[in-house]
Amino acid sequence: MPLLARLFRTKSVARIQAEAAAGISDHESGSALAKELTTFDLTALGIAAVIGAGIFSTVGNAAYSGGPAVSLLFIFTAIACGFAALCYAEFASMIPVAGSAYTYAYASFGELIAWIIGWDLILEYAIGNIAVAISWSEYFSTLLEGWGMPIPAYFRMDFLTAKRGFDAVTALLHQGQTLESIRGLDGMASQVLSYEAWVNAPRLGSLPVVCNLPALGIVILITVLVYVGIRESKRVSNAMVVFKVAVVLFVIVVGAFYIKPENWTPFAPNGVAGVLNGVAAVFFAYIGFDAISTTAEECRNPQHDLPRGIIYSLIICTALYVLVSLVLTGMVSYTKLQVADPMAFVFGKEGANLLVIERIVAVSAVVATTTVLLVFQIGQPRIWMAMSRDGLLPKVFASVHPRFKTPGFATIVAGLVVAIPSLFMNLTEVTDLTSIGTLFAFVLVCGGVLVLEQTAPAAERKFRVPYVNAKYIVPAGVVVACLIFTLYPPATAVARNFLTITPAEGESWLGAFSHKIPFLVFAVATLVLAGLCFFKNLSLIPVLGLLLCGYLMTELGLVNWLRFLGWLAVGLAIYFGYGFWHSRLEAEAQQGD
Ligand code: ALA
Repeated sequence: MPLLARLFRTKSVARIQAEAAAGISDHESGSALAKELTTFDLTALGIAAVIGAGIFSTVGNAAYSGGPAVSLLFIFTAIACGFAALCYAEFASMIPVAGSAYTYAYASFGELIAWIIGWDLILEYAIGNIAVAISWSEYFSTLLEGWGMPIPAYFRMDFLTAKRGFDAVTALLHQGQTLESIRGLDGMASQVLSYEAWVNAPRLGSLPVVCNLPALGIVILITVLVYVGIRESKRVSNAMVVFKVAVVLFVIVVGAFYIKPENWTPFAPNGVAGVLNGVAAVFFAYIGFDAISTTAEECRNPQHDLPRGIIYSLIICTALYVLVSLVLTGMVSYTKLQVADPMAFVFGKEGANLLVIERIVAVSAVVATTTVLLVFQIGQPRIWMAMSRDGLLPKVFASVHPRFKTPGFATIVAGLVVAIPSLFMNLTEVTDLTSIGTLFAFVLVCGGVLVLEQTAPAAERKFRVPYVNAKYIVPAGVVVACLIFTLYPPATAVARNFLTITPAEGESWLGAFSHKIPFLVFAVATLVLAGLCFFKNLSLIPVLGLLLCGYLMTELGLVNWLRFLGWLAVGLAIYFGYGFWHSRLEAEAQQGD
């Protein structure tokens, strides 16, 4: 078979459905996954995965940059996620197996793209969980400190943060400042902490040993729980979800009494550009509703329950997020929100001064991030399991533990892949990478629905994305957008993104232009898609999901894009080193010859 045909050969929906109906099991041990989950469990699992480090932590920076208008970014992002969620729901009702977007891509785009998406999902699940583990550790360490049991700073932060703090503070010390005066400077207290961590850390030769031990510890604990069983994991997760939703509601209700409406003016102090700076953080807060599709083989009635679980959890989280963002920015001025624990902060001394609530919120942040860790540690091994069944990863990744009925080996590897880097890595960088990787998965899932509409229109789906013909709407939308951007360029973010090339100091025009490349690619893709809508009568919702998620990707910065492309390049090298030679579809094709 010619190389290209082989790389893009799809796995038919009918075949995936037949395999799912027959109940694929681990052929060596004869074990299958336990079927435990209902709509309620899945909705809870979705909420468990979504509400976590994003709203409890990274949203602080987004609010600082965007002001109260960040609540609009929450709505915009929810719309983009909503379209993607509907597409996930359609796939989950059609292809109820564990691989999530990986399996969907195999059915719609073929093996190579499926591998790419499987590899990309590691960014969402494993790398995302590194971010969550780091955030968990921040809240947990602060809690312990409050209870008089501080963890030394050098054992609760990453090497890079400590080194940066050391460099920044040393520079000021050389200018003649004292440690105490530096501590009093705006934003420098945390730098002094990092400096002290670096200076006081035990040494390995001349190298300071600075690492995040609580992050390591929680990932090990979660891995053990996930290894032992889906039922146990479900019970723990459901209980924690009830608690964290109750606390978020409590924050909204109590916080509403402390809103000072003057804090909402100006609503968008740094304009659209300031709001869009928060894209990675806000999108990160939404990640997770899709993760429940990885439990398809553990659902009692996946085709009915999964779409509902995905959609219900997204709706509930959106409502909570929009309200929380309004409450946070209403309680204190957005200028003060650049903190790692914004939800607790607004109840602290600089906010409502309700210290008991501040403490309750801090406890619930630990609980909330724990559940995110749990769901993602459940999801990652199940995706690897699906890839292994297709021969793209070694067989051992598909082995199911005979007693616990979980993918044991893959669970342990996923634990190690998260635990070890979480000792050393830095929060912001992992958050950005997670967001771009997840948006890419969403783009492909929306694209996959469009492809299957054409290639497998009759395949059985228990849930279909409502069809609205995009034939005229999308091309007309593109024309209107172009007119608006041309007539009012400075007023629109997209025009700013597209039309203004302003080199920073010392930067060449070419360097500044390179930052526009993601948007230019997006603009060309939009034109092509508008043409396809016109000629092929594509369905509007997946097209809008694709466009909105694609646009959000362009807002994530060139550096992030380069890292992302580097990651995909490594993935391709692995595919051509292993998966290409071991693909089950290829082996079957050769047997058939
Ligand atoms: N949405 C998840 C969180 O915010 C990843 O922690």
